[in-house]
Amino acid sequence: MESALDWHTAHALLAWQMEMGVDEAISDTPVDRFAVERAAREQAQAKKSQVAVARGGGGPVSEVKADPVAEAGQAAKGATSLDALRAAMDAFEHCELKRGARSLVFSDGLPGARVMIVGEAPGRDEDRQGKPFVGKAGQLLDRMLSAIGLSRSESVYITNVMPWRPPQNREPRPEEIAMMLPFLRKHIALVQPEVLLVMGNISCQALLGKRGITRLRGHWAEAEGKPVMPMLHPAYLLRTPTAKREAWADLLAVKARLESP
Ligand code: URA
Repeated sequence: MESALDWHTAHALLAWQMEMGVDEAISDTPVDRFAVERAAREQAQAKKSQVAVARGGGGPVSEVKADPVAEAGQAAKGATSLDALRAAMDAFEHCELKRGARSLVFSDGLPGARVMIVGEAPGRDEDRQGKPFVGKAGQLLDRMLSAIGLSRSESVYITNVMPWRPPQNREPRPEEIAMMLPFLRKHIALVQPEVLLVMGNISCQALLGKRGITRLRGHWAEAEGKPVMPMLHPAYLLRTPTAKREAWADLLAVKARLESP
């Protein structure tokens, strides 16, 4: 294909992009993320402000604000199966993360499994494949599970607090977590696991209402009427291999609980 740029100019532009930190080409055409964010904000604003003009008598204009948490609650309540829950989440328009993500990352593993894992949010690989924990952290998670005789194909169900990848893998914001929490609660109610493994601070924040995973880990807690084992996130274990000792102890506690009569 004939290029409008000569080789040297193209090379200089590429070098400049790399200098600015660009390390990945994800599309043939550039995406203006500022425009995407702007459009998302405008759309959310338009939804929030469904202005009901009181006609006749020149009464005051009343503004009916959308409440994303309440709407999520309604949508989640109406979902009576995992498929319906996925569809409800797919139709939910209040979370800006949806705009920047490729896929809704709903779940993987066996519905009805005794063990349900709740991770934080999809990363690049999960966003591409539409499945949770498929990147490096996910591969470590699979090895950890297999060490206590569990696997996602036979005995574990996996989801995340956030179904959409945050841009640049930033932490989900408290209001984003809050609006997706009704879906997570319903997800747990539909799967009905015996035990929840809650990985990392974001997941502890969502389900236990507190952070501080290095203190919380290893101590059984309770959420949604289920026993919860807070655990170090596999991504953290990749960065801090010495912490695998603690993760192993927590896995053994989970195994013992599953095996106890
Ligand atoms: N980290 C998570 O918490 N979830 C994923 O799905 C992938 C990485």
